[in-house]
Amino acid sequence: MSKTFELKNNQDDKAVELPVIEGSRGTPAVDVRGLAGKQGVFTYDPAFTATCSCDSDITFIDGEQGQLLYRGYSVQDLAEHSSYLEVCYLLLNGELPDKDQMETFRDAITHHTMLNQSLVKFFDGFHYDAHPMAILTGITGSLSAFYHDATDIRNPEHREIFTHRMIAKMPTIAAAAFKHSVGQPKIGPKNDLDYTSNLLRMMFAVPAEDYEVDPVAAKALDVLFILHADHEQNASTSTVRMAGSTGTNPYAAISTGIAALWGPAHGGANEAVLNMLAEIGDASQVPKYVEKAKDKEDGFRLMGFGHRVYKNFDPRATVIRGYCHQVLEHYGMQNNKLFELAMELERVALEDDYFVERKLYPNVDFYSGIIYQALGIPINMFTPMFAIARTVGWAAHWSEMMADPGMRIARPRQIYTGYDLRGYVDIDKR
Ligand code: SDX
Repeated sequence: MSKTFELKNNQDDKAVELPVIEGSRGTPAVDVRGLAGKQGVFTYDPAFTATCSCDSDITFIDGEQGQLLYRGYSVQDLAEHSSYLEVCYLLLNGELPDKDQMETFRDAITHHTMLNQSLVKFFDGFHYDAHPMAILTGITGSLSAFYHDATDIRNPEHREIFTHRMIAKMPTIAAAAFKHSVGQPKIGPKNDLDYTSNLLRMMFAVPAEDYEVDPVAAKALDVLFILHADHEQNASTSTVRMAGSTGTNPYAAISTGIAALWGPAHGGANEAVLNMLAEIGDASQVPKYVEKAKDKEDGFRLMGFGHRVYKNFDPRATVIRGYCHQVLEHYGMQNNKLFELAMELERVALEDDYFVERKLYPNVDFYSGIIYQALGIPINMFTPMFAIARTVGWAAHWSEMMADPGMRIARPRQIYTGYDLRGYVDIDKR
């Protein structure tokens, strides 16, 4: 298919016909690759709101319908029937594993969970109150100093080892960052525990006593991790792709994704939501804060609300809100004030034209912190939880890009608005 566009600087210019690319689902795209060469013009799209940076088979989002598919499977189905590790296999390999494939994959992940002891020493170099996301960024980037043996990025086996190591080690790194922040000894992984049980034990066990993982907590984390695993070309994944396109060490590329995720407009929103709810305090203050969120002069935004792509409910938020009820009931927190406040805030906002007209709905970050807090996870560890879960998405997109023989270094252009050529002026003449 193609479309004809009128690109006329003056009368005798002729219309330009540009091909249109269609995927298996979703919005078609005008292929502008030839535009600069043939027409001497760039396209202009700050923040890439309408730009396809690549084609991908991994994840599909229908923002209008509020649909999210991982390799064609809905996140609702996967959250109900699958496990995070099985979803990792699916995202990396494109198909759900059979029993043998799942066991082989689980075994590979299990046996990559430990950290090199020289790397463990790095944690002690961080200030005791460093934000865990700063530690995650630094430690993950440092993995590239330990793993340069298996980073022939054109070698599929090396790419697979990298993805296994990253998925396996992120919980160990996050738990160690938490232990550093509370001044407790780091607890290593145990191979007889499942993925999220291992994480909870590494975070909350202490040498002084036995620690029994609560299966309800492990399951809740597993569901949250499934829901956070991938989200097509979001800011952090696009950052990993951009960094990876230079051919850099894959661990260094993942560390750029962690840095991008930390921002409050992105994965840092889950931490910001809890801080916002604490600031609002109680339901009587909700109308005041909804008005603040509408006031452009105020700069306050409802954290956990709105989304660049979803103009309907974020399907993940809907699942998480339902799970909140289950988890809070299990811990006898049915009257959790923060959850009640969050639901009141959602109710008031969604009755307000400002939010309805702009299609601002709760996103994945709005309710997730309620569950994390019920599990005893401190607020500054909420975004590290997101980073653990999203590691597979970053790794899957990096691998997909590396396997593409047509991969090129990403290099956007600009509209230049600065000075034209001018001569140097000596300081005593300025
Ligand atoms: C994630 O991209 C992904 O897929 C991300 C993610 C993933 O899984 O990777 O889904 C995870 O990052 C979820 C988003 C978490 N961030 C937040 O919850 C922070 C609060 N939300 C916003 O800052 C905002 O909604 C964004 C950043 C999420 C989206 O911003 P956009 O698409 O750039 O929208 P915008 O800033 O252009 O806003 C459009 C309008 C503006 O008003 P007008 O100029 O039209 O009058 O909506 C308003 C905004 O002022 N608006 C909000 C608002 N979000 C948008 N007003 C109040 N509160 C908000 N939260």
